[in-house]
Amino acid sequence: MNQITPPPKIEIIPSSAPFSEAQRSWLNGFFAGLLSDAPTPLSAEQGAAVMQGPAGDGDDGEAPWHDQTMPIADRMKLADGRPLRRRMMAAMAQQDCGQCGYNCHDYSDAIATKAEGRLNLCVPGGKETARMLKTLYEELDKAPASVPDAAATPAAPAPIPIGELGRSRDNPAPATFLSRRLLNKDGSEKETWHIDFDLSGCGLDYEVGDSFGIFARNELGHVDQIIALLGASHTTAVRGRTLREVLTDEVSLAPAPDSLFELISFITGGAQREKARALAQGDDPDGDAATLDVMAALQKFSGVRPHPEAFVEALETLQPRLYSISSSHNATPGKLSLTVDCVRYVIGKRKRLGLASTFLAERVQPGEVMKVYVQKAHGFGLPQDAKTPIIMIGPGTGIAPFRAFLLDRRATGATGRNWLFFGHQRSSCDFFYADELNAMKTAGLLTRLSLAWSRDGDKKFYVQDRMREVGRELWSWLAEGAHVYICGDAKRMAKDVERALVDIVAQHGARSTDEAVSFIGELKKKGRLQQDVY
Ligand SMILES: Cc1cc2nc3c(=O)[nH]c(=O)nc-3n(C[C@H](O)[C@H](O)[C@H](O)COP(=O)(O)OP(=O)(O)OC[C@H]3O[C@@H](n4cnc5c(N)ncnc54)[C@H](O)[C@@H]3O)c2cc1C
Ligand SMILES: NC(=O)c1ccc[n+]([C@@H]2O[C@H](COP(=O)([O-])OP(=O)(O)OC[C@H]3O[C@@H](n4cnc5c(N)ncnc54)[C@H](OP(=O)(O)O)[C@@H]3O)[C@@H](O)[C@H]2O)c1
Repeated sequence: MNQITPPPKIEIIPSSAPFSEAQRSWLNGFFAGLLSDAPTPLSAEQGAAVMQGPAGDGDDGEAPWHDQTMPIADRMKLADGRPLRRRMMAAMAQQDCGQCGYNCHDYSDAIATKAEGRLNLCVPGGKETARMLKTLYEELDKAPASVPDAAATPAAPAPIPIGELGRSRDNPAPATFLSRRLLNKDGSEKETWHIDFDLSGCGLDYEVGDSFGIFARNELGHVDQIIALLGASHTTAVRGRTLREVLTDEVSLAPAPDSLFELISFITGGAQREKARALAQGDDPDGDAATLDVMAALQKFSGVRPHPEAFVEALETLQPRLYSISSSHNATPGKLSLTVDCVRYVIGKRKRLGLASTFLAERVQPGEVMKVYVQKAHGFGLPQDAKTPIIMIGPGTGIAPFRAFLLDRRATGATGRNWLFFGHQRSSCDFFYADELNAMKTAGLLTRLSLAWSRDGDKKFYVQDRMREVGRELWSWLAEGAHVYICGDAKRMAKDVERALVDIVAQHGARSTDEAVSFIGELKKKGRLQQDVY
């Protein structure tokens, strides 16, 4: 998991101060509220209650809901009765992906203390998470008014400083888009691009394992269709700019937010109003809610033409997207590469475009300057000791950080052995960076390259199947202290690969399944098993 540096915790009342733990916690809550950036700071009671919950609740600091494959209803059940900030954490998608600028734990703490007012930053959690956070946020104002005497809990995080240029989504830097190159060959069902940026103008640097945040623009044809549906002109003035400009780079056009349905419900009547209201509350009256981007919502309520100003206000701010960096600053200073799978799909008769991936694949032009930032990885990077062997498991775009690791180890002369498991659909057309990887193997940098092609044969064959085949050698690398890395799909691949690791440890390390599970758990705790999954 790509963990983000937690913002500094406020320990305003030191543990040496002459207060009981409960008093200290209450006072920390009070100051957390006072120091927050929120328009309405928390009261002392609220500050304490969100941090430690109602008296007697306590919190053991465990987060059993921290599992990205668990549905939100189950996560909320596990967090039932816990302090508000813990329930807020359970509402997050549990990927610690960093897209919100925090990890799940710190984002929830920041919201609970009102240091962060944006409730819609959890991209993988989508509307479900945003709605749950809204409900929980409303509870902030209902926090109990008495000083609780429960055990103390951690203090609130400070408001996040914007910091250095290009180091956070809140303070992006300008970087020049250089070029794109298609990595798949004819016959592929995929469209994955190698993308190059020039950072020399902004002076940004990065370490392998870091991710790169980019701000993209909506497609102009799509924007113009929406303007036509509104019956507006693209020069209509909104927020001091033209409507066309605002719809292009300020607001998200997918999916349609609850607030848009609320707006529609205000300006329509009868059955239409009821439907719009239901959609705003997360119901699905016609079974099509998941397909409604902003344009589809306007088409669904086709007689309704919101005022452009109100329409824009009802939309969500366009969020940046993160990509694992696939180059090494040590190897090519001032240059940065990404490996981007293009998101395109069809719903009904209309083609839908992933915002950032298609922007990189076709809309941004070489030489154009884009807003970008480096999202520092914490808990995903090369071992400090350059002699430590590494095992990298990265099917599909999961190869991105591992290309970076290999380039970095070559540039720095690191002597540790390197083993890469790469897989994709077809060997003939989806073997990204084949020439580079084969050359690294010939040169001895890449000690082992193990491949798995899922659609070459009749039966699916995945990286974890290859890992099982070479389980004995994999175990011997582990026993010799190798670090293991997994990158790529969070929902299925990462879980399945971890399961294979457990089986390999059990079989070749002569352990029971329970012991193998603890062994893998220990590897994680020691930072010897790291994940960057999305
Ligand atoms: C830390 C991190 C690292 C990442 N690294 C990489 C990387 O190296 N390479 C890479 O390619 N991506 C990477 N991603 C994913 C990347 O950030 C974006 O999520 C991805 O490119 C899609 O963004 P988009 O703006 O193109 O699509 P969006 O506009 O965000 O659209 C994507 C959404 O479209 C919907 N959708 C997609 N396909 C379908 C379908 N078939 N049917 C219906 N709905 C669908 C889903 O709701 C999906 O969430 C990473 C993510 C994180 C968090
Ligand atoms: N947020 C987004 O919208 C977005 C954007 C880009 C990518 N993604 C997701 O990110 C992930 C990475 O995409 P990608 O293009 O890099 O490649 P990918 O779709 O993950 O495919 C890479 C390889 O992994 C295989 N695979 C499928 N299920 C697996 C499993 N359970 N265990 C191991 N391997 C498995 C695939 O095989 P088969 O396909 O033949 O089964 C394929 O050979 C995907 O889940 C993709 O949907 C999401």
